[in-house]
Amino acid sequence: MKIQTKENFSKKHIYLIGYMGSGKTTVGRILSEKTDLPCIDMDEIISSRLSMSIGDIFDKLGETAFREAESSLLEEIAASTAPLIVSCGGGVPLMHENRLVLKSSGTTYLLEADPEEILRRIEGDESRPLLENKKSISYVSEMLESRHNAYAEASDMTISTNGKTPEEIADEILAVLK
Ligand code: S3P
Repeated sequence: MKIQTKENFSKKHIYLIGYMGSGKTTVGRILSEKTDLPCIDMDEIISSRLSMSIGDIFDKLGETAFREAESSLLEEIAASTAPLIVSCGGGVPLMHENRLVLKSSGTTYLLEADPEEILRRIEGDESRPLLENKKSISYVSEMLESRHNAYAEASDMTISTNGKTPEEIADEILAVLK
């Protein structure tokens, strides 16, 4: 996908952030249908550009290379002239630089879910290298705790997604947008 660029960032995009399994991709697609804004998924773009699954990128190129690709894609997205709905990878808000880019180029919605709900949603999904053989309440809780401040700092609004359908979550965001 080619993203048009312009020199100055403006606050226009809708960024969805949150932990793995919080529903960013699904909610992004629904929001896109309801708003007619294009939706992009950062993991999908990185994976397609490198012609590798996210797991293979972590295995073969390493997490640092993935994080660099992620930050540079985020800058590219931020500079896009057209407003976009962006499903961010769960690690995007962890870097200070990325948080600044999010803040300066869009409104950021944090989708939150309890560890129990996250584990239910990602059951049987082996696409996330950071959770390979680590799908336990204690591991996910610790990781959520360690990411809490970065997620809170990056977000303009927090949406609890526990027990809600992706449609309901998208409607909550739409209600704020209107
Ligand atoms: C990651 C989240 C994943 C993907 C990678 C790392 C993270 O994206 O970018 O596996 O650090 O939280 P999703 O949040 O879309 O699963």
